[in-house]
Amino acid sequence: MNDLKIAFIGGGNMAASLIGGLLQQGLNAQQITACDINLAQREALTSQFAIATYETAAEAVAQANIVVLAVKPQVLKPVCMAIKKDIPSTALIVSIAAGINIASLENWLGKRAIVRCMPNTPALLKQGVSGLYANTLTSNTEKAQAEQLLSAVGIALWLDNEAQIDAVTAVSGSGPAYFFLLAQAMSQAGVKLGLSAETAHKLANQTALGAARMLCESEVDSAELRRRVTSPNGTTEAAINTFLTGGFIELTEKALTAASDRSAELAQQLGD
Ligand SMILES: NC(=O)c1ccc[n+]([C@@H]2O[C@H](COP(=O)([O-])OP(=O)(O)OC[C@H]3O[C@@H](n4cnc5c(N)ncnc54)[C@H](OP(=O)(O)O)[C@@H]3O)[C@@H](O)[C@H]2O)c1
Repeated sequence: MNDLKIAFIGGGNMAASLIGGLLQQGLNAQQITACDINLAQREALTSQFAIATYETAAEAVAQANIVVLAVKPQVLKPVCMAIKKDIPSTALIVSIAAGINIASLENWLGKRAIVRCMPNTPALLKQGVSGLYANTLTSNTEKAQAEQLLSAVGIALWLDNEAQIDAVTAVSGSGPAYFFLLAQAMSQAGVKLGLSAETAHKLANQTALGAARMLCESEVDSAELRRRVTSPNGTTEAAINTFLTGGFIELTEKALTAASDRSAELAQQLGD
């Protein structure tokens, strides 16, 4: 990556996380440019990262080896149509826009190397996870570059087919919100059981952090971790049985199926 130039189209939250991650990985600021219509956003990127920013894409992408599409999905089509002529023909396109499929990107930018990615919000803390899918025109070297780019903000995983992006959206894209919901429900229950709101929040949130670290750092899987903290006839078993008899597993599957279906539906609506 050390001799590549990377241009970001859209310099919002996700782009800023990626830029910060790339600089931490050892890229220098001269390798990165960004274009954003928002002046405040451009100024923030320049002062935080000392990268060159532009109001229009033409200058940002002029020398680029990789062009990262990081605007909202709703504006991606006109953005692509406007920048198509300015992107060097050999540049790799990496799209992080939710719900925009490769066929649409090929329609808007022409047949060329394109990697579609689905990151998630913990990327803001460099703790994200992304699903990646490349079209057939993408070389192994370009795939490695896209993987390194997304690895700047967490873990990057390759998918076997593009339809799996909907499943990734359901599991990890939307996933942080499920954990937030559980944390909220746990702290509300804690208050009902007599704790102060502040104590209940801290207990729930720190438990989430500890459990997440155990999940990621342990050698054993989630089912085994749960078994180890569930003594027969104990307090955890009382709670877990209540979850299970209330249909927690089925409800989770139903919820993720709804998210996956919605992801496919949005792709239909936003693409062409
Ligand atoms: N945030 C996440 O957790 C997450 C997760 C997965 C995927 N994504 C995807 O990542 C992409 C970026 O998300 P984000 O959260 O970083 O959005 P964001 O913070 O809104 O950033 C987008 C930036 O692009 C600017 N912009 C709008 N139109 C533009 C144009 N024509 N040319 C150049 N810049 C333009 C926006 O300016 P204005 O604000 O003035 O419009 C904004 O500064 C989205 O496609 C989203 O689907 C995000």
